[in-house]
Amino acid sequence: MQLRVSVIGVGYVGLCTAVGLASQGYGVIACDVDAQKIDKINLGFSPFFEPGLREKLSECIQRGTLRGLVNQIDRVVAETDFTYVTVGTPSKPDGSIDLTYIESVAVNLGRALKQKSGYHIIIIKSTVVPGTTRNVVLPILETESAKKCGVDFGLCMNPEFLRQGSAFYDTLNADRVVIGSHDKHAGDQLEAFYREFYKTCIPPIIQTSLSTAELIKYASNAMLATKISFINTIANICEKIPGADVKVVAEAMGLDKRIGSQFLDAGLGYGGSCFPKDVQALIACSEAFGYVPELLNATERVNKQQPRKVVEFCKQQLGTLKNKQIAVLGLAFKPDTDDMRESRAIPIITQLLAEGAYVVAYDPVAIQTAKSIFQNSVCYAVSVVDCLRDADCCILVTQWPEFEKLTPQFFKNHMKQAILVDGRRVYDPEIFSKTLKFSTIGLGQ
Ligand code: UDX
Repeated sequence: MQLRVSVIGVGYVGLCTAVGLASQGYGVIACDVDAQKIDKINLGFSPFFEPGLREKLSECIQRGTLRGLVNQIDRVVAETDFTYVTVGTPSKPDGSIDLTYIESVAVNLGRALKQKSGYHIIIIKSTVVPGTTRNVVLPILETESAKKCGVDFGLCMNPEFLRQGSAFYDTLNADRVVIGSHDKHAGDQLEAFYREFYKTCIPPIIQTSLSTAELIKYASNAMLATKISFINTIANICEKIPGADVKVVAEAMGLDKRIGSQFLDAGLGYGGSCFPKDVQALIACSEAFGYVPELLNATERVNKQQPRKVVEFCKQQLGTLKNKQIAVLGLAFKPDTDDMRESRAIPIITQLLAEGAYVVAYDPVAIQTAKSIFQNSVCYAVSVVDCLRDADCCILVTQWPEFEKLTPQFFKNHMKQAILVDGRRVYDPEIFSKTLKFSTIGLGQ
């Protein structure tokens, strides 16, 4: 008999997981407290933009392998065999994570388990700091259900490694699957499920303790964030050395198999819903255990400094920013998403406005998101040409493919002053500096 699966919390990770499983024929129930989201899903629409997701979602709804339920955790547990918990774990002001949603779901899951006679496995997929599943979730489940973990129900921790923009692809094509478990039986059941799910292309599966699984997620994101801050540090050194170019340094470094070429793109630093939050949470967790993680603190500091540099480049070219019109190309935290969480565009635009500049911004999909952040303090352009018109300087913030195609002459033709600051090392400095006043990250002049 094929296993039935439920997913609680249909944010990014939850919905991609639900649709990924449903697309392989599993019967999936997606459950959330937000009725509007669930209504949308049941009509075959995705509540957010993610390439490929909407088509698969509507296919699964039509085939009947996916359905949404509003806030009915008792039904979800009764009607399925596994429940993934994918609710958010936002940051608190001190960087530590807020477990409110996890705790309230655990209470409801515990009560639902009490009503169920058969065995059920709860799988925590939300990113939680080491110790949370064992010390917070498990006691709540046992107390509320009056049942014993490892006997009456199973508990696993199964972190996700999805990238926005390719989250659906990543769901079906994992580099590795990490399964932390409270007891071997639950871990083996989940491993067998994944072996069946991935069929002929089974990724390495690592079974470990709950806390190790939790830490693997943080360590992976902290490593990638540190790689970015590392190359940005090298970029900053390059800027001091005439003739040095971080792009060439990174290319050559990346050819060393021990280093690898990915995540060595110097620029404005990392944003998004994961890296900033996860690095902060790991720092807070580590400090709570009495260890100050110097390297992670430095990773964060470098990342905060990077956006300021492009504003400095603008000032060097223009003298003052007061009453100058600055075109900002790109608002999303990376291409192929409308997500602006921790986008580098936010500190850049905030600083430009504080210095008295008039900001005109354009993004192919994130304008609506930007409006909720900057309201009327920024002018929103409808195209690249509209954004550049009459600008004194342009800053490239997000490397959308449509921006990569722009020529130096194009900028010159549409701007008042032909000054370009490339925050993502998209343009060839040799070609662009012939036609424009051109500054970029990591290039020694
Ligand atoms: C990341 C992880 O990759 C994923 O495994 C995890 O589950 C969630 O966090 P995501 O936030 O979607 O995924 O984006 P990612 O593509 O990793 O980029 C994060 C940020 O780093 C972006 O702002 C990007 O512009 C920046 N970045 C990335 C760089 O500045 N340089 C690089 O070389 C790579």
